[in-house]
Amino acid sequence: MDNKVLVTGCAGFIGSHLTEKLLSEGFKVVGIDAFTPYYSRAIKERNMSSFIDNDNFEFYEANLINYNLKQLLHGISTVYHLAAQPGVRYSWEGFKEYVNNNILATQRLLEACRENDTKIVFASSSSVYGNAKLPENEKTPLNPKSPYALTKEFDEKLCTLYHETYGLNAIMLRFFTVYGPRQRPDMAINIFTHKLLSGEPIEIYGDGRQKRDFTYVSDIVEGNFLAGTSKIKFDTFNIGTGNSITINKLIKLLGDVAGVDPLVVHVGKAAGDVRDTRASIAKAKKKLGYSPKVKIKDGIKKYIEWYKKYNLK
Ligand SMILES: NC(=O)c1ccc[n+]([C@@H]2O[C@H](COP(=O)([O-])OP(=O)(O)OC[C@H]3O[C@@H](n4cnc5c(N)ncnc54)[C@H](O)[C@@H]3O)[C@@H](O)[C@H]2O)c1
Repeated sequence: MDNKVLVTGCAGFIGSHLTEKLLSEGFKVVGIDAFTPYYSRAIKERNMSSFIDNDNFEFYEANLINYNLKQLLHGISTVYHLAAQPGVRYSWEGFKEYVNNNILATQRLLEACRENDTKIVFASSSSVYGNAKLPENEKTPLNPKSPYALTKEFDEKLCTLYHETYGLNAIMLRFFTVYGPRQRPDMAINIFTHKLLSGEPIEIYGDGRQKRDFTYVSDIVEGNFLAGTSKIKFDTFNIGTGNSITINKLIKLLGDVAGVDPLVVHVGKAAGDVRDTRASIAKAKKKLGYSPKVKIKDGIKKYIEWYKKYNLK
């Protein structure tokens, strides 16, 4: 029983990488994804192309909100819960989708996990910290600045309640800005690369001096894997790199790697964006043995290679 796991959001950016990793480690993986319309179904199908026909992979195109989750969890030891409505900026106008896909869907999943005694690894976000003193550690008070971040804080608290009330095993991972092949089309590195390679100006929100702890997707996947396979019953961890760079530096790096001089225009600050992020990863290092491997320069090189291969005709 222990080697069958569920990945929710398996057609998404991070979920598809995690599914590949779990299959390569010999797990049987059940995947569920609703192909929500936030970005195209074709991209999500392509994300799954390396494993959709794998004999150890079973796929359900279904929504967590109304699917029979009790049945789905039968024989599953661990759920990696990545399905969600992501994105900080869209969370003002798209509020209902965040309530449905983040809050209601997670509550249903937690109920099913409780009944089936299944451990959950929950994909939270660094955005729960808001504008905090750096580096953010797991004891930093939470201060969400967007409806998206608020739903992640809510979900963390719900996982905590299920642990306290029913003894559910839950590990919450706060991912810091994830990048790499298959990055969601709405995310900055994808948009910047597109503009850079098509000779269009890159729009920077604010002065560009805001800093982010950009974390390569294989390091995020490793953090999930370590959490899912650890004996820890309940805890919260930052999964980042411990380093951060400004958006201005990121654009310079993208330009250097692509061999293009970036054109830049500054526009107003986006509602809900936090100023800076940088993770303290001491706790994940100590308790999970987490150790991020990919330096930003190498990660950006791999990303640009991937982007050119899949997005340029
Ligand atoms: N990408 C990042 O930088 C980042 C940072 C912090 C946290 N996270 C979290 O990591 C997780 C994965 O993010 P991502 O960037 O891969 O996003 P993504 O949009 O690429 O993947 C999410 C997937 O979940 C599916 N989904 C959404 N609601 C569903 C539902 N109700 N039922 C079934 N499937 C549903 C979507 O169709 C999508 O394929 C999310 O929970 C996100 O909030 C991401």
